[in-house]
Amino acid sequence: MQKILLIGSGAREHAIAQALKNSKEKIELYSFISNLNPGIIDFSTNYRLGNVVNVQDILDYARENKINFAVIGPEAPLGAGVVDALEKINIPSVGPVQKLAQLETSKSFTRDLLAEYNINVSPQFKTFKSMEGVEDWIRALDGNFVIKPDGLTGGKGVQVIGDHFSTTEEGLEIIKKLINNNNERVVIEEKLVGQEFSLMSYCDGNNLLHMPAVQDHKRVGVGDTGPNTGGMGSYSCADFSLPFLEKQDIENAKKINNQVAQALKNKFNKGYKGFLYGNFIKTKNGLKIIEYNARLGDPEAMNVLSLFKENGNCDFLQICEAIINGSLDKIEPDFKKMASVCKYAVPQGYPDNPIKEGVIDISDVDQSRVNVFYAAVDARESNIHLIGSRAIALVAVHENVYEAEKIVEQEIKKIKGPVIHRADIGTRELIEKKVKMMKGITK
Ligand code: AMP
Ligand code: GLY
Repeated sequence: MQKILLIGSGAREHAIAQALKNSKEKIELYSFISNLNPGIIDFSTNYRLGNVVNVQDILDYARENKINFAVIGPEAPLGAGVVDALEKINIPSVGPVQKLAQLETSKSFTRDLLAEYNINVSPQFKTFKSMEGVEDWIRALDGNFVIKPDGLTGGKGVQVIGDHFSTTEEGLEIIKKLINNNNERVVIEEKLVGQEFSLMSYCDGNNLLHMPAVQDHKRVGVGDTGPNTGGMGSYSCADFSLPFLEKQDIENAKKINNQVAQALKNKFNKGYKGFLYGNFIKTKNGLKIIEYNARLGDPEAMNVLSLFKENGNCDFLQICEAIINGSLDKIEPDFKKMASVCKYAVPQGYPDNPIKEGVIDISDVDQSRVNVFYAAVDARESNIHLIGSRAIALVAVHENVYEAEKIVEQEIKKIKGPVIHRADIGTRELIEKKVKMMKGITK
């Protein structure tokens, strides 16, 4: 029996654990977690509570349990070099080594890579280490700009003019603080207007197997308002495209992921293994890349991992093994042709001032209608405690996206405790608004 190490303890990792456990071949799961996620613990033969960037602790745990391979959930352990360290003791991973994970951990690395390999999907951008030339560059962008600290920010570090600040002067103050006070490199780029979506691909170093497109909702408030979050919820459609996209857009997004994987291989002479996550935006000038991630999206993972068939031609374990063995081209993709809607319940006050305690009770939720994935919670004394970040995700799968939304909405309302969610994700009203917006800018 394969012994698999899972690193991470959010809803994405709960979904990964479930997908591994639902695979045809039986496995033993060993989980290295940073909070007591009851969903992951239930699926695990054994778990260890620790810090997911503590490479030595992870190595010790892997050795002690004679792990066959690891699946890395979040970006932080990739950035810390966990895959490299495991590789040295002959434990392969579903997840890229540190230098390839730069695709996510450094925004300037990715922009430079795209430029070097003529993959023309970047907004205009420049990276600054001092204030020299910043004002000229903002003028060159006609004051339409976005500020990005170069490193990992958990999706919360980006500031967009018109959304997070109003004037060039305010923007300059933000940039000064980052550069002078925090000594950070800052990417300043053109603000793109359009609809965002995620197209994720399994990648074995050479071959890619693409997942259905998903749209996440980063803003905390109904109608896409308020501060950015890790993601409040997401949907995917039965045709694996999205209502505001053309068939050609999906083909182009797949092609771009293929090109990026090839560029990485050419640059480093080593293939990218793991999940390759393109965060695309469709603009009036075609598809652009907002960023790349080196892992599955959260919440997007809950959408795509809910689409494996019970006795289908491929399951998640086979895909993980194929990533490790370099045989993804032998896998016959066989996903449910269904729509999915995922919504998160998050602590009141999230993301700026989330309450950090309180208990939620999901006993009224009908788990025959929705998949339940625990996230930032601790299971203690038979209670589910909030710890200040996204708490629990519910997912429904249905032929029709609007029906899936209704099911999730009915069930998420039954969660008792100090949590909120976005009622509009996946509704006809919001999706039609996005379609209209897209028609407005592409005509
Ligand atoms: P990121 O951390 O790069 O994913 O950025 C977080 C969010 O900021 C994105 O999902 C977008 O909504 C927004 N954003 C980032 N870059 C741009 C851009 N160049 N133009 C417009 N919005 C952007
Ligand atoms: N859904 C956004 C992310 O995973 O980065």
